[in-house]
Amino acid sequence: MASADERNEAWEAWKASPWGRLRFALIGDAIDEAIAEFGDRTLRILDVGGADGFETLPYAIRGHQLTVADPAEGFFDRGREAAEQLGVSDRVRWVSAGLEELPMAGDTAYDVVVCHFVLHYRPAGSLGADVATLSRLTAPDGVISIACPNEAGLVLRTLTREGPAAARAELDETTQFSHTFGHDSQKVGREEVAAALHENGLVETEWMGVRIANDLIVHDEMKHDPVYFQQLLALERDLCRRDPYRGIAALWQLTAKRL
Ligand SMILES: C[S@@+](CC[C@H](N)C(=O)[O-])C[C@H]1O[C@@H](n2cnc3c(N)ncnc32)[C@H](O)[C@@H]1O
Repeated sequence: MASADERNEAWEAWKASPWGRLRFALIGDAIDEAIAEFGDRTLRILDVGGADGFETLPYAIRGHQLTVADPAEGFFDRGREAAEQLGVSDRVRWVSAGLEELPMAGDTAYDVVVCHFVLHYRPAGSLGADVATLSRLTAPDGVISIACPNEAGLVLRTLTREGPAAARAELDETTQFSHTFGHDSQKVGREEVAAALHENGLVETEWMGVRIANDLIVHDEMKHDPVYFQQLLALERDLCRRDPYRGIAALWQLTAKRL
C-alpha cells in the first residue's frame, strides 16, 4: 500500500497528465451543466472523496458553499492552501470522513453531490448502502454526479497494451487494479449504480464516457503536444455522449436528479 506522500505525489502527477486533464475537462463540463440548471442560486455542494478539492474548489470561487469529505486527510493541506490563495476559505468546509461515516452530525441535504472515483474503492457488497447514503444526502430537486472506471474500457486498454491473454484475464477478474494508487478495487457498473439510484428516488438524466479516443492511442508521448492535446480533447467532447462510443470509454460519469 502506498504511503500518504506517495499517494499525494501520484495524485499530482496524474492531475497534470494529458489523460488526467481530459478527465477533469470532460467531467467538469458535466458538473457545469448540472449546476447551470439552478440559475443564480447559491448552492450547497458536497464532494465525497474529494481529496484536495481540485475538482470542486472552482465552484467555491463562483460563490457556492462547498464541503469536501475524505478519509485521507493528507490531501487537505494542499486543498486548504489552494482555498486560502483563492480567497474562498470561508466557503469551504473540510470533513475528515469516509462515505460510510456520512452524513456527519448537523449535515443537511445538498443541492449538488459529487462522488467521483470513490465507489470502486469501497468493499465488495457495499454499493447498495453507499448509493442509499449518497441519495439521502441529495436534497429534493438536487443533483448527483457519480463516476467510476468502466470495465469495457479497461479490457480494451489492456488488450491494446498487453495483448489478448491479459485482456481475457481482465475480463474474468472481479476486481481491477488502480495504477495511480497501486491497489485493487471493485468493478462498478453504471447501470447498477443507476438502478440503485432509482430505488432511492433519483432518476439518471445524462451519462458520458470519458477517455474514448485517448485510450485507443497507445503512444502517450504525442498527447503532451499542446496542439495534439486540443484535437484529442475536441474529439473526446464530440464522442463522450454518443453511442456506441461512450460504452467503451475508460471511465463513466452519470448525472441523476432527485424529483
Ligand atoms: C481517485 S481519488 C478521486 C478524487 C476525486 N474525487 C476525483 O475524482 O478527482 C479517490 C479518493 O477517494 C477517497 N476515498 C477512499 N476511500 C473512501 C471512502 N470510504 N469514502 C470517501 N472517500 C474515500 C480517497 O482518499 C481519494 O481521495
